[in-house]
Amino acid sequence: MNRLDFAPLGFGVGLRRPHYEPILDAHPTMDWFEVISENFMVEGGRPLQILEDVRAHYPIVMHGVSLSIGSSDPLNRTYLDALRSAACRFEPAWVSDHLCWTGVGGRNLHDLLPLPYTEETVRHVAERIRQVQEILERRILIENVSSYMEFRSSRLEEWEFLTAVAEEADCAILLDINNIFVNAFNHRFDALRYIDAVPADRVAQFHLAGHSDHGSYLLDSHDHPIRAEVWALYQHAVRRFGRVPTLIEWDDNIPDFEVLAAAAAEARRRCDLVLAPERLHATG
Ligand SMILES: [Fe+2]
Repeated sequence: MNRLDFAPLGFGVGLRRPHYEPILDAHPTMDWFEVISENFMVEGGRPLQILEDVRAHYPIVMHGVSLSIGSSDPLNRTYLDALRSAACRFEPAWVSDHLCWTGVGGRNLHDLLPLPYTEETVRHVAERIRQVQEILERRILIENVSSYMEFRSSRLEEWEFLTAVAEEADCAILLDINNIFVNAFNHRFDALRYIDAVPADRVAQFHLAGHSDHGSYLLDSHDHPIRAEVWALYQHAVRRFGRVPTLIEWDDNIPDFEVLAAAAAEARRRCDLVLAPERLHATG
């Protein structure tokens, strides 16, 4: 259990539209679902009915894509009020978003854009996370994003930046293992070094996903099965961070629900293997 005392939810998958029907019809076995916050920050209608049904049967967490915590625009109070009321309504185990910016000058670019890794950015982002946590009246999780370029002005390694922001904001970390793998390839760093440097007591959730290989770079496309090397990195992370709630993300070429459920089961199996190998061997 991490120091920040988030619920030990187990192994879940992202709630995606093609699976609404099988989930609502049969309520299949699943520890928890992660939902995209913005899809449910609405006044009424079918999305809310769907989430109410899902929430009646499963724990959920809310994962946002538009907080734009790194932007130089003022925090969007309308957005935060809507997020706050959605969180009050659906009582997620936690709320998360990304360590990035998604727009400036009031425009949303709908992309998770990287930040310069500097002390100045740490202070800027940490202060904004603190304000968000005050408004939402809860500690949030911030996620490391995949990236395809770097700023010349960066003075910190990516993991130093993530750590400094989390420490200064006193927030938790959603560690995306696939994003670490993708960035390690794209920016030529050691993924194990990244995982070994992140403060263990702040890591409250893992993401696992598939990416696409474009030869000279990897793209975090969430449209493939999880690659063997990412599973291996996950096991390294479990060895260091323990039984952290783990979520399978799949956003394009979405397969049948059973495929996602099998990936969540595989995460559980690998976690058990790392944490209790003797017992597993004894029981076959
Ligand atoms: Fe992720």
